[in-house]
Amino acid sequence: MLITDIKSMKEISEKLRKEGKSIGFVPTMGYLHEGHISLMECSKKENDITVVSIFVNPTQFGKNEDLDKYPRDLERDLKICKEVGVNYVFYPSVEQMYPAGYSTYVIMESLVDRLCGAFRPGHFKGVLTVVNKLFNIVKPDRAYFGKKDYQQYVVIKKMVKDLNMDIQIIGCPLIREKDGLALSSRNKYLSKEERESALSLSKALFKAKQLFEKGETDVSKLKEEMEKIMRSYPHVKEIQYIEIVNPENLEPKEKAEKGDIILVAAFVGSTRLIDNIQL
Ligand code: PAF
Repeated sequence: MLITDIKSMKEISEKLRKEGKSIGFVPTMGYLHEGHISLMECSKKENDITVVSIFVNPTQFGKNEDLDKYPRDLERDLKICKEVGVNYVFYPSVEQMYPAGYSTYVIMESLVDRLCGAFRPGHFKGVLTVVNKLFNIVKPDRAYFGKKDYQQYVVIKKMVKDLNMDIQIIGCPLIREKDGLALSSRNKYLSKEERESALSLSKALFKAKQLFEKGETDVSKLKEEMEKIMRSYPHVKEIQYIEIVNPENLEPKEKAEKGDIILVAAFVGSTRLIDNIQL
């Protein structure tokens, strides 16, 4: 069922909670793909009711980012949600979420200064604010996030802990195409040739993991190898970062250990892509 206003969504959630039903929540910006579907499936297994939100959140986009051209297809998204068996789709307008005079934001003082946060100032302030608002409206017991946005997952988990929110944050595995490309709504922007170059991110990650498994733990050597692979593809325009970090606090490592996360971000053509792998 499609819900477009905040008041109705709150009433439905309150009623469900009173009835003792558990609510699983999958926040999205729409243009749904297999990655989102896996989150919905997970939520369906673990909860009585699954709510999906579709909201392209303007506060998490920078001035020169892709807010206006972000892919949207509500009809297709609703069809997918119906097929998967989602109970409610929450689709609020920007005017409702951020009415004139809106001025309250959630600011984290650690973890957001690095990786994507260093290249997208204000991004996590927007993410945390909207996720907080959505949590207050949907009142979930559990919320599901893809580990493709690994930093987002860690930052949201920390917000929930720091603010004593009674919500379990569940991170679900990143989903890849058969050839290794991590699923992302932004893959739609890639031309055929750019898509070839986009494979460089996963190829570099797989190679680093392979080298680590053969005994290489020197982070600078692993990063060097990854950069070499990525630079050999014609449409990789800018490598923003290649980092190997502790999975909990995102602190960069010098010696790689099992469980660490390797993360990359790069522009392929004019599309910014991210990917990661756990050692
Ligand atoms: O990962 C996303 O799609 C967004 O950042 C989220 C969590 C829905 C907040 O707008």
